[in-house]
Amino acid sequence: MAAHVNGTAMMPALTGMFTAGRSAVTVASMLVTLWILSPVMALVVTAAGVPALLARLALSRRRSRMVADFAATARRQSLYSSLITDVRAAKEVRLLGLGDFLKGRLFGELRATQTAERGLDRRGALIQSGLSGLGAIVAGAGLVWAVHSAATGGLSLGDVTAFVAAVAGTQGAMAGLVDSLAIGHEALLFFEYHADIVSLPDDLPVTTSGELPVLRQGIELRDVWFRYDESLPWVLRGVNLTIPYGTAVAIVGLNGAGKSTLVKLLCRFYDPTHGSIRWDGVDIREVPPARLRETDGCPFPGLHVVRLDRGGEHWDR
Ligand SMILES: Nc1ncnc2c1ncn2[C@@H]1O[C@H](COP(=O)(O)OP(=O)(O)OP(=O)(O)O)[C@@H](O)[C@H]1O
Ligand SMILES: [Mg+2]
Repeated sequence: MAAHVNGTAMMPALTGMFTAGRSAVTVASMLVTLWILSPVMALVVTAAGVPALLARLALSRRRSRMVADFAATARRQSLYSSLITDVRAAKEVRLLGLGDFLKGRLFGELRATQTAERGLDRRGALIQSGLSGLGAIVAGAGLVWAVHSAATGGLSLGDVTAFVAAVAGTQGAMAGLVDSLAIGHEALLFFEYHADIVSLPDDLPVTTSGELPVLRQGIELRDVWFRYDESLPWVLRGVNLTIPYGTAVAIVGLNGAGKSTLVKLLCRFYDPTHGSIRWDGVDIREVPPARLRETDGCPFPGLHVVRLDRGGEHWDR
């Protein structure tokens, strides 16, 4: 499937690259000034920018990996916090006494992300102070050289002032360039995740031909097994069920028994892991999903799902 990349997803990477371009121009003009006063110093300041750049790029790689590793944690975090704060969930949260449970879960997730973030921030702070130290040594050594040159008549007082300003300016511009390159690099890494996700193929093999006959006999589930993922337990195990045409069927079961899952399979949001669902004998995998879902989100008008929970029945169609 062709990737449908969202234009706005490219924006941070593009902004980073444009900023880097602008910073590069500033660095170049500063370097020219410095080069006129001291080519050696211009080379030293440039060379000192290389470890800064490498360190920042490594840090942004780590940060983007961390965000990817913690994506599921961040999703759960936002789910728990929205359940705790959303007024629509308030009735059930209070009725079932879920407040502390959800708060505990939320804090658990927060602790996990904050521990990882703290580790990364600590590493970033260490690198930053190392790089600042290196910058100070370079600037200090340059100043000593300039003062020495002024004392021996190599540089005038005005040259020393211009030299100090040029070193500070070049270092500042170099830091800006490194910053914007790192930000652009990080944005590109995030964009790569975005592109990977939007180019994932459909998880259902979809046919565009095939017809759904007018239902005359009924719908049949033949030895249907289903689980949401290989790492998860079975939700449906060998379900055999016939729903004759024209009848109404109620599916009754405890919370989590698999009622909604069964309806999702009937609407072909997922395919059975084993077994098949037949519409007058036609496997629903052989018809376009849009045809199946044409009537009111699902072509099973007589189907009602009843959930049994503490409060009694809950109609859940
Ligand atoms: N998208 C999903 N990914 C992984 N597991 C899921 C997913 N949706 C449901 N489950 C799990 O599958 C099982 C069956 O869930 P399902 O929603 O079908 O139950 P249900 O009978 O409709 O429950 P309820 O009475 O609460 O509506 C549960 O253990 C649930 O946690
Ligand atoms: Mg349900």
